[in-house]
Amino acid sequence: MKKSHICKILNINNPVEGIYDVIVSFPEIAQPGQFIHVLCGGDTLLRRPISICDSGDGWLRFVYQVRGKGTKLLSQYKEGDELDILGPLGVGFNFSKKGDGVPVVVGGGIGIFPLLKLSKALGDKTQSILGFRTKDLIVMKDEFDSCCDLCHIATDDGSYGTKGFVTDVLEEVVKNNNVTSIYSCGPVPMMKGVKQIAEKYNIYCQLSMEQRMGCGIGACAVCTCQSHGENVKVCQKGPVFDAQDLDL
Ligand code: FES
Repeated sequence: MKKSHICKILNINNPVEGIYDVIVSFPEIAQPGQFIHVLCGGDTLLRRPISICDSGDGWLRFVYQVRGKGTKLLSQYKEGDELDILGPLGVGFNFSKKGDGVPVVVGGGIGIFPLLKLSKALGDKTQSILGFRTKDLIVMKDEFDSCCDLCHIATDDGSYGTKGFVTDVLEEVVKNNNVTSIYSCGPVPMMKGVKQIAEKYNIYCQLSMEQRMGCGIGACAVCTCQSHGENVKVCQKGPVFDAQDLDL
């Protein structure tokens, strides 16, 4: 049984409205794609699953969007406060199958956050494709720029980068490079498109599911998704899956 850790908040940033970027002390080693379950505080025992954005020796970084009561409470913590964090949890990305060519990471909205540590692990041939609704919501572009060979941006309204879907950019990148692996996190319709492109060009692909969660440790079945016609628990078997194992 996983134990939670009491973790001191070392740094908090608020790069765009509603997005909080937090670094805490953390005693365990985390893999790209794993997540933590954070006790939100106040008068609630609510925990919220949040993907790990980056980590190192003795620290961990997570970025989240305020979306409801739990994350609203979380946003009231200050540097120096302590958080009760369970984790690291779940199965992360398997980058041993990335092949010799170009790895590509594809993220949409808050789905970009777990891809930063992964991009660093995949090496400097990596290309990233990040999708946002509009220019004002772009975050972490400079960080992806510095660890990737190329960082492509797509916006829904065309206010920055390519106008349209990350999947349109992905298909162009695949046509113009020897892409041997694709990793993605974001809304399900986007990941469905990523999976279709990976299948069309026969490229190894992993997807990270952003599922609603209750317990985070396999006890409540709130987080199920479909794999080969069966219900599987995202918090235990995922959040990262081989794309071929997900029924999207
Ligand atoms: Fe409870 Fe997955 S969140 S079983």
